[in-house]
Amino acid sequence: MRVLVSGGAGFVGSHTVVQLVAEGHHVLVVDSFVNAKPSVVARIEALTGQPLDVRAFDLTDRDRTERLFAEESIDAVIHFAGFKAVGESVERPVDYYENNLGTTLSLLRAMEKHGVTTLVFSSSATVYGADAPVPMREELPTSATNPYGWTKVMQEQIFRDAAVADPALRIALLRYFNPVGAHPSGTMGEDPAGIPNNLMPFIAQVAVGRREKLGIFGGDYPTVDGTGVRDYIHVEDLAAGHIAALHRLTQADEPISVWNLGTGQGTSVLQLLRAFERACGRELPYEILPRRAGDIAESYADPTRANAELGWRATRTIDDMCVDTWRWQSQNPHGYPDA
Ligand code: UD1
Repeated sequence: MRVLVSGGAGFVGSHTVVQLVAEGHHVLVVDSFVNAKPSVVARIEALTGQPLDVRAFDLTDRDRTERLFAEESIDAVIHFAGFKAVGESVERPVDYYENNLGTTLSLLRAMEKHGVTTLVFSSSATVYGADAPVPMREELPTSATNPYGWTKVMQEQIFRDAAVADPALRIALLRYFNPVGAHPSGTMGEDPAGIPNNLMPFIAQVAVGRREKLGIFGGDYPTVDGTGVRDYIHVEDLAAGHIAALHRLTQADEPISVWNLGTGQGTSVLQLLRAFERACGRELPYEILPRRAGDIAESYADPTRANAELGWRATRTIDDMCVDTWRWQSQNPHGYPDA
């Protein structure tokens, strides 16, 4: 297939691109490089052994997007592009709505005009909102607690409405739990700008000496050890889930398919920290801080539907996730090079 990958230079996108190329697909990446460094492209090419077709532009540019679809033959779209920092979304809500909804609307318009019907969308378990029971199932109602989360809920709704108007569409809404880990080569991984918002990159930066200690947001949750519990999923398993979804869509009877991508296993902050200590071979300093606003005690998937319908399963363990993250972080203490 000729697959357009939006946000293909990002964390989940880059790992998915490598797997798509390995499977023999022709990949066309579009990325604005607002949150990704161009040097990731050489890393992808080194792993695939072939040049990557990359177009640097912002998909909110409708005319530019439309021109791309006019010039290239595209069979399917995997749509990763989007802003994803919760705190920033509270401070810059209009940017989040404009970017995350704008890219999706441009893509849908161009797809409609050029007869492209297949799309895999990066949604998030954040659409289950604040009070969802665990394990989380796809049937739960959706809601959000911040503008970033609302953009995911709204994008899902836009796809559902588009599919009512055009029943030929085949769209997968993939609800990711907590993507972590890195490519086993150590050459690709997560490279957040500034102070990491998410737990795994923060721990990795403590281990490599860029941060003094981990602050744990809350030690009094009703969980196994008082710290928050999440469903961490290795980015390589997550990438494989996209390819399984793409294949499944070609035989899907319904326009919209919703699949949780998670392991089904919950891991606490302290359990993840201990696993990382095993991976890097030393103790890591931490302190317990007050809870972070908007956090929930426990989030983990019921992945039964994806397991059954996609023939896909997350296989990598928490130790695999920490070993691979540490290989990436220790080999690239400051992430991807600037030049
Ligand atoms: C966060 C977002 C979520 C988004 C996801 C992926 C919030 C409230 N939620 O999920 O919407 O889809 O990232 O980008 O931001 N923790 C610490 N110390 C840290 C960082 C995190 O103790 O420095 C704890 C958190 O309290 C939580 C766990 O680690 O219990 C995981 O946090 P994080 O990696 O930010 O993921 P989520 O909060 O699950």
